[in-house]
Amino acid sequence: MPSGIEWTENLCTGIAVIDRQHKTFFKLTNDLLEGSENDKKLILKAFDFLKNYILEHFGLEEKLMGKYSYADMKQHKAFHDNFIAELDKLEPRLQEESLEPVFLRLNYLVVNWFVNHIRTKDRKLASFLEAEALKDKSVDAVLRRLHENSN
Ligand SMILES: [Fe+2]
Repeated sequence: MPSGIEWTENLCTGIAVIDRQHKTFFKLTNDLLEGSENDKKLILKAFDFLKNYILEHFGLEEKLMGKYSYADMKQHKAFHDNFIAELDKLEPRLQEESLEPVFLRLNYLVVNWFVNHIRTKDRKLASFLEAEALKDKSVDAVLRRLHENSN
């Protein structure tokens, strides 16, 4: 049985709005994946949640990257697009094969890909945004406003 995803301090980006979304993602993903191994309906629900959540979350990161001309935007966005493509490829397999391989792959994507992405790409983006916020108070204000609105 694959293990769930666990929030650890080294996943903190320091950007409150991003951390809040990541934590929500961890909690809901764990809730959905727990016990859904043999339940097609629940796995479909997990796909739905992931797709919606990811649109919003990746959208926010990409908006921030674009707004502040993040040099690695193209590469970071390519990772997001790739993750979405993987989910889109995986979901129809639910209709064609047994649940287990799909469930395992979904678990792998969420636990390995996503956690690794936060630890590397998102933290790098957050360091950049933090540096921008130090240089320009308006960036700080934007990040704070986003966080307040996401509460
Ligand atoms: Fe990201």
